[in-house]
Amino acid sequence: MKYQTLKGMNDIYFKEAKKYDLIIKNATKVFLKYGYSRVITPNLEETELFKRSVGDETDVVNKEMYTFNDKGDRSVTLRPEGTAGVLRAYINGGLHISNPINKWFYYGTMYRYERPQKGRYREFHQIGVECFGIKSAFFDATVVKMAIEFLEKLNIKDLSIQINSLGNVSSRKKYIKVLQEFLIENYDRLSEDSKVRTYKNPLRVLDSKDKNDKEILKLAPNLHDYFDEESLTYFKDIQRYLEKLNIKYELNTNLVRGLDYYTDLVFEIVSTKDNHTILGGGRYDNLANILDNKDIPAIGFAAGIERISSLIQDNILEEESLDVYLVYFDQISDFMIDVVSKLIDNDIRVDFEYKSKSFNYQMKRANKLNAKYVLILGEDEIKENMLTLKNMKTSIQEKISLNEAIERIKNV
Ligand code: HAM
Repeated sequence: MKYQTLKGMNDIYFKEAKKYDLIIKNATKVFLKYGYSRVITPNLEETELFKRSVGDETDVVNKEMYTFNDKGDRSVTLRPEGTAGVLRAYINGGLHISNPINKWFYYGTMYRYERPQKGRYREFHQIGVECFGIKSAFFDATVVKMAIEFLEKLNIKDLSIQINSLGNVSSRKKYIKVLQEFLIENYDRLSEDSKVRTYKNPLRVLDSKDKNDKEILKLAPNLHDYFDEESLTYFKDIQRYLEKLNIKYELNTNLVRGLDYYTDLVFEIVSTKDNHTILGGGRYDNLANILDNKDIPAIGFAAGIERISSLIQDNILEEESLDVYLVYFDQISDFMIDVVSKLIDNDIRVDFEYKSKSFNYQMKRANKLNAKYVLILGEDEIKENMLTLKNMKTSIQEKISLNEAIERIKNV
């Protein structure tokens, strides 16, 4: 084919599409149980929304956004993530005044101009939740519990749950200043990436993968030593609740996440099978303030559907089957049209060939499509206004009326 998908973008069909649907179905079930409802926001937003939310100095904003001017010469961006748009929707809807507590879930495409590799695409799909108006350590623990529950429902095992706290806004600010001073002292020995981040986004240096950086960071000031009483108690409470909820987590004090809006709790769920982070999230109580001078406590997470999908075994997909395969000869008769339409009206899944084929060919197709029944419409049957129904499991064959056939098929 002359035309290909763009690099890092994929067509999804058959098993992969089924896995996608299964993820959405399972997640929706779990989220509804916890009192969440669906929110749908646009794929395209003002560029400034993401710059202000995700942070000017993050890789996502700096390097990875699909940004262009629309025909009205406005700078617009294909969403690289869901949180900013969902918070915008909440504030635009006036919900912070009329209906402050909202627990929302969403799914859809996200766009990041990254270097494509397994589990990393330029168009990918996320399923996520955002909750507004609640600030409670117990609630935060239940958000983590829900994230784990939805992955476990898909039979995904070997997960490591990592948590950290970035402290509240003032603790975080205090720490960033001290950390930056430390990084400047060690500037010459840092990797090139970390040198840039020292000035632009010092917190991000903490999760540098560079070996030498890691050595240097062993002596860096500890984020948690700069927490005020409120930040300390809040995080301790979350850990206590997680333990009470039987959640086995790891405390990872280097976990800072790649987006700038987080405060207090941050968490990630990593598959120990392939080391991919499949889900990430945290609290972002200061984001509404940055965007619109509002105080709105908020927490959420998002998971990569492609990353979850690659961990789902094929054998948990339900086997596809057909209720009835219709076998006929010569051409489609009026009687056959009546039969097809009555089967459909009775919610019976029926299939047949649109061009006449041999009996053997049709029986082979019935097997391939895993049909439970075959209905044969031969010359005799048409004359007698009857049908031959063959149960494909037992191979028992009987000549009966259409109404009787429908009864049999529906009582499988
Ligand atoms: P994030 O960590 O940037 O967080 O993305 C969440 C998940 O999306 C990742 O853990 C990963 O599974 C998936 N993901 C990210 N980039 C790609 C990619 N290029 N290809 C495939 N999958 C990818 C957020 O987006 C935040 N909005 C999460 C959040 C919600 N925090 C609070 N509320």
